[in-house]
Amino acid sequence: MPLTVSFAAKFPAKCDCAIFAAGRDLKPDLSALSKGAADLVRGAIKSAKNFKGESGQALSVPLPKNNFAARAIVIGLGDLKKADAVSLEKAGGRTFPPLNAAGAESAAIFLPKKLDGVAAHFALGLRLRSYTYHAYKGKDAKAKLAKKPKPKKVTVIAGKTAAASKHYKRLAAGAGGVEFARDLVNMPPNDLYPDSYAKTIAKELKPLGVQVEILDDKKMKTLGMGAALAVGQGSARKPRMVVMKWNGAKGKAKSAPIAFVGKGVTFDTGGISIKPSAGMEDMKMDMGGSAAVVGLMKALATRKSRANVVAIVGLAENMPSHNAYRPGDVITSMAGKTIEVLNTDAEGRLVLADALTYVQKKHKPKMIIDLATLTGAIMVGLGFEYCGVFANDDKLWGAMEKASEKTGEKIWRMPLDEAYRKEMESNIADLKNLGSLGRWGGACSAAGFLEHFIDEKVTWSHWDIAGTAWNKSDKPVTPKGGTGFAVRALDQLVEDSYE
Ligand code: BES
Ligand code: MN
Ligand code: ZN
Repeated sequence: MPLTVSFAAKFPAKCDCAIFAAGRDLKPDLSALSKGAADLVRGAIKSAKNFKGESGQALSVPLPKNNFAARAIVIGLGDLKKADAVSLEKAGGRTFPPLNAAGAESAAIFLPKKLDGVAAHFALGLRLRSYTYHAYKGKDAKAKLAKKPKPKKVTVIAGKTAAASKHYKRLAAGAGGVEFARDLVNMPPNDLYPDSYAKTIAKELKPLGVQVEILDDKKMKTLGMGAALAVGQGSARKPRMVVMKWNGAKGKAKSAPIAFVGKGVTFDTGGISIKPSAGMEDMKMDMGGSAAVVGLMKALATRKSRANVVAIVGLAENMPSHNAYRPGDVITSMAGKTIEVLNTDAEGRLVLADALTYVQKKHKPKMIIDLATLTGAIMVGLGFEYCGVFANDDKLWGAMEKASEKTGEKIWRMPLDEAYRKEMESNIADLKNLGSLGRWGGACSAAGFLEHFIDEKVTWSHWDIAGTAWNKSDKPVTPKGGTGFAVRALDQLVEDSYE
């Protein structure tokens, strides 16, 4: 259960913890406390010489009995002049560990008055950071976890409570999408495989009013999806494509939709070009692009977006076996282009190629964004902070950059170029799935490969989320594991540019 968030003008009669946010001036609004308690907190701030109100800093102070809260946590906001939605989300997220460590189940949050307009973002950060994935703990561990005190209910003290509640409701739709995407990424690959994944998508999205169509391997064959099918042919779990439709543009049901496409490799062993075993377990996250797309659809439907959106995720398991595709094979994609397979570990682009073709043929979208944990090379270039984004349209890039700045999901523009496209041409087939330069510029040549499957005049962007879909360790608002990266930025993009 996500954290329950409410907004009130006055602090509650009783709660476990009062959170006071303060900038470098070290002057939190302590008016809710008795004079004695306020003095105690001020004294604690003074004596903790390392506490400077910087973002990331927290100071926990037990309060005397006669106060409404048992404990105060002072949380640093850094430079108050620079405080905005994103920095407040981070501060909210960073409040979770000390709150949890204190065993506090309820909390009241006091922010500097001038931040009233972005108060909902503090609560959002706290909620996103409080995410846990315990579905696979054993019975005893689950019972223990259920008994352990943890933050459940927070009340944000705000001037304009109705406006703040409305604001949070909007943000919570995005958070629900993020949490669903994380659940999907965190799920073990013996339980999340193409067919089970497809059914999970339908079960979650249909009740929200999203049309969901599952294309099974037979249907994919009749459609000629030879590239996506090749990737999955070594596995006992057959590939699927899932098409999702949300028609939110009232009276404009026929207006061209925007499209989202996701790579959903439920486990990537590398296939016959097998990966080294160290760390291979993380390759359950190779469906992160599809999870972001599915999470986005959940967010859009939850908040009843007024846009027409179609989404497709290509689901396959990349396994070595006697049935597996081989390096050297030449396969035929749905677009009719033949592809020489040089490395079975460059499988994501093959799945995407057919998904991109299908969505363009069938739905004629005016704009397409695909998301994929596509290359290790993007992690070499950008690490885990920035997502590499390719775009064939400056206006779209500008809109994406703005949206991502609003949600704090950082993107960096990468180049599309004729040379990268050329690099993917094969001697014996139309294309090859590994560039002539091998790993050098691998994220760019992968994008160059995808570009061969984009129709002329279609506005398109490719997000390589290999470095941002998965956290090795906790970050301010994204705990370890699946991150749900891109759900909120794309939800924001749809709202700002297509509604
Ligand atoms: N799923 C991987 C990329 C990846 C690596 C995602 C690490 C997340 C973390 C992808 O299918 C892959 O194996 N790419 C190869 C491509 C190469 C063979 C051209 C890579 O990046 O090494
Ligand atoms: Mn691979
Ligand atoms: Zn992969």
